[in-house]
Amino acid sequence: MNVLQELRSRFRDALASLVADPVPFAEMVKAAQDSKFGDYQANCAMPLAKLRGENPRDVAGKIIAQLKLDDLCDPPEIAGPGFINLKLRQDWLEATVTRLVTDPRLSVHTPSRSKTIVIDFSGPNIAKPMHVGHLRSTVIGDALRKILTFQGHRVIGDNHIGDWGTQFGMILYGFKNFLDREAYSRTPVAELARQYRLVNQLGDYHEAAAGLPGWRSQLAERQRALQETETTSPATPVEKDARKKQLKRLNDEVAGLRDQVASGEKKLAAVDSDATLKLLALAHPNIATLAREETAKLHTGDAENRRLWEQFMPACLAELQKMYDRLDVRFDIALGESFYQPLLAAVVTDLQSRGLARESDGAICVFIPGVDAPFIVRKTDGAFTYATTDLATIQYRVRELHADTILYVVDARQSDHFKLLFESARRWGFDQIELHHVSFGTILGDDKRPFKTRAGDTVGLESLLNEGVAKARGMLETTSADFSSRPDLTESQRQIVAAAVGLGAIKYADLSQNRESDYVFSWDKMLATNGDTSTYMQYAYARVCGIFRKGNFDRTAIRAAGGSVSLATPAERALALQLLRFAEAIDSAAAEYRPNFLTQYLFATANCFSTFFEQCPVVKADTDDLRASRLRLCDLTARVIAQGLELLGIQTIEQM
Ligand code: ARG
Repeated sequence: MNVLQELRSRFRDALASLVADPVPFAEMVKAAQDSKFGDYQANCAMPLAKLRGENPRDVAGKIIAQLKLDDLCDPPEIAGPGFINLKLRQDWLEATVTRLVTDPRLSVHTPSRSKTIVIDFSGPNIAKPMHVGHLRSTVIGDALRKILTFQGHRVIGDNHIGDWGTQFGMILYGFKNFLDREAYSRTPVAELARQYRLVNQLGDYHEAAAGLPGWRSQLAERQRALQETETTSPATPVEKDARKKQLKRLNDEVAGLRDQVASGEKKLAAVDSDATLKLLALAHPNIATLAREETAKLHTGDAENRRLWEQFMPACLAELQKMYDRLDVRFDIALGESFYQPLLAAVVTDLQSRGLARESDGAICVFIPGVDAPFIVRKTDGAFTYATTDLATIQYRVRELHADTILYVVDARQSDHFKLLFESARRWGFDQIELHHVSFGTILGDDKRPFKTRAGDTVGLESLLNEGVAKARGMLETTSADFSSRPDLTESQRQIVAAAVGLGAIKYADLSQNRESDYVFSWDKMLATNGDTSTYMQYAYARVCGIFRKGNFDRTAIRAAGGSVSLATPAERALALQLLRFAEAIDSAAAEYRPNFLTQYLFATANCFSTFFEQCPVVKADTDDLRASRLRLCDLTARVIAQGLELLGIQTIEQM
């Protein structure tokens, strides 16, 4: 049972005679901030009193008169200006938690209507190794897949792999011109990635060489304009204001151009300073255009390019799979962009015939009233786009997979794309389904800029995971009782623990953020043994397991034996209530697609357990009954923590 939902529904009934739409008022029932105000609190009397022109305490009284809560709560109390404080009945709480001890679903109810939810997550552009930028979508998507499945929905995790984009043109060009055969047969994906980087680099070189003179003179011109504006002295406030705005704009432009020039110079220098690269650059002056032509040839069915693409794919997919195995992330299907290619022409024709898309400057676009940017579904050169593929994908997911909801776990920087996509899809007739961009921010380095290596390169995912495991190992060697006191712990056992702790820390650090925010990546913070980290939760779990192990108590037997839970002390009661609220945490994380609601809950639970453990002797409890009751609470705590972490894709370890 979700207690909060139950209370809200009782309030809805009670409020029905006082207000036309009771729902928003019933939503004002919340968990109490402080246990001295009870367990839950309703703040709806105040706004309702305003609406009715009455005294809030009187309104609170009227609500209470209508409330049917006596099976669940002690008589409600009115506090302060009109808060309604609710305290769960002791006998009800004890009976409910007793049932929870043997409930495999930990009181999480299946929703009244189970939906088919497609989760589009991870979706890396392949033939390039995965990097830190792929972490968030993969980890958040995986957690949502697990949470929504646990709730009882039919969930289809779909890896919409970028297997058809312009990067393939670069790889094809590189493959045909620069291939190191020996390296390719040894480590195909690394060699393909090298081709990608090389062709990219040479293309950038020529672009910089061609562009720099122009960028430099633009910069000089803007700097002059800035100086001129700086020397003006405005007379009127209006002029002052205009000058201020002008200065801001010019400063931004100068900064932008400076960056552009600096980055162009860097690209030029990187090739100029390397004789081999320089020769290659000179030998391939039109490389960017030629690479684009390779992409176009692949897309229009050129046999050679198709054959090569098919040859690249298995190795690329196997390389990806290695990362997913390591992260223990699974998909139900993986239909990449290439899968939809045969459907794209028909999508465009259909949009045109319904008058939704039309030609504009040679391209075919969907125009959304009130939005300036067109949604291009076919470019001037005839090529279909990311947008066309996404429209075809929606059609497929609705028609073939029967999706009710599609979630896109994708970087916030694509939010404009998704706005246009969703609106286009709605107009196209897909207006009965929920389309939702589960967007997330960027992972930053210490310098508050996107996380890079010291040399300024993107951080490879594999090396990041390796580093996490190594750091976890180091941390465990100094903090873990088992690591220091148990010489019998084998090297491979140590590795397993280090992997669970290191990977868990990386995932948890990501999942515990408000996903829309950027966050700074910090090993020290994420591996802290005390605080809002997975390590803290894993230790809490292991500590509970330790109680059973040391006392020789069999958890399964204790559960099977039945017997009730008594909650005589405040710490026991607080822990029990917290454990009962697991369903609330799951429901709220699922409702807003926010795994951090679950991490917050787990952190609070681990803290409650700490207090309980300090204040309530378990093994040395005064009576056998009390010991049994407390052992049941311990077992339940361990199950809730393990289940919660599992839904986040994080392993627990019995001994660490
Ligand atoms: N491959 C895309 C990228 O790396 C992400 C794909 C997201 N999914 C989608 N249906 N657009 O940016």
